[in-house]
Amino acid sequence: MADICRLATLCCLLYLLSLLVGPSMAALVQQQPLVLKYHNGDLLKGNVTVNLVWYGRFTPAQRSIIVDFIHSLSSPVKSPLPSAASWWKTTEKYRGGSSNLVVAGQVLHEAYTLGKSLKRYHLLALAGKFNAVDAITVVLTAADVAVEGFCMSCGSHGATRGKSAYVWVGNSETQCPGQCAWPFHQPLYGPQTPPLVTPNGDVGVDGMIINIATLLAGTVTNPYNSGYFQGPPSAPLEAVSACTGIYGSGSYPGYPGRVLVDKTTGASYNAHGVNGRKFLLPAMWDPQTSACKTLV
Ligand SMILES: *[C@@H]1O[C@H](CO)[C@@H](O)[C@H](O)[C@H]1NC(C)=O
Repeated sequence: MADICRLATLCCLLYLLSLLVGPSMAALVQQQPLVLKYHNGDLLKGNVTVNLVWYGRFTPAQRSIIVDFIHSLSSPVKSPLPSAASWWKTTEKYRGGSSNLVVAGQVLHEAYTLGKSLKRYHLLALAGKFNAVDAITVVLTAADVAVEGFCMSCGSHGATRGKSAYVWVGNSETQCPGQCAWPFHQPLYGPQTPPLVTPNGDVGVDGMIINIATLLAGTVTNPYNSGYFQGPPSAPLEAVSACTGIYGSGSYPGYPGRVLVDKTTGASYNAHGVNGRKFLLPAMWDPQTSACKTLV
C-alpha cells in the first residue's frame, strides 16, 4: 500500500515536472536544424532559359510585374539591398554555381482555347511547346481559370521525361487568396492578422510572385525530384516550401515577421528589383546554416 502511495507521489511529481519542462522541451525540438537532404541528382545551373506561357487574360501591367521579378533574380544591374538578386544568390549554396535565369520566349493564350477549367495534362500541353533541356517553362493561369488541385496547392513544378522543367502558378485573387495570396489577404485559417499592403498594387499578382519565387527556387534546386528536399518525393519540402509563412525576422504562424514598409505607399516588401520594383519574398533554406534565411 505504501509502495503504491509512494509510486503515486512519484508519478505526480514527475507529471508536475513534465508540465514545468514541457514548453522548453518543445522549444528545443523546434530548434533542431532543418535539413534538406541532397539526393545525388542534377540541379539546374548556369544559364537557364525561362519561357513564359500566359493562359487567360493578364493585363500588360500584371505581366510586367512578373517579368520584372524574374529579371530581378539574375539581373546584372544591381538593385539596392536587400534585393531579389541577393535572395536568389542563396540557391548558389546548393552545391555551388549560379543559376542564371534568362527570360527568352513568351506566349499569350488569351482566347481560352482549352476552356476555363484545366487539368494537369492541359498544363503539360501548354508547357510542352518549349521542350528544352536546362530550360524552365512557366505556365501562368489567369484569375478566372480553375486548375485541378488549385487551392490545395498554389502552384507546382515538375519535369517531362525529356528533362524539360515546368512550373505552374495560378492567380488566386478570386479563388483562394486566403491560402495563396497571404499575407496580402486575410488568411483562411488561423490568427487573423491584418493583410499587408501589396508592393505592386495587385493582391493576385503580388501573391503569384511569392509562389513563382517558391517554385523557381524549388525547380533549380530539385528539378527532377533527385535534388534537395525533405520528406517523400511526392510531397517534398524544398528550398522555399520548407520555410512556408516566413518573410521577416520574428515570424510565427499567422505573422509573416518584420519586413520593410514603404513610407509613401504603406506597402510591405523585403526586396528591391529592377525598374524600381519592390517585392515580398519568402525565406529560403540556407544549406550553410541549415536554417530558413530571411532578407530582413
Ligand atoms: C551565359 O550567358 C551569357 C550571356 O549570353 C554568357 O556571357 C555566359 O558565358 C553564359 N554562361 C554560361 C555558363 O554558359
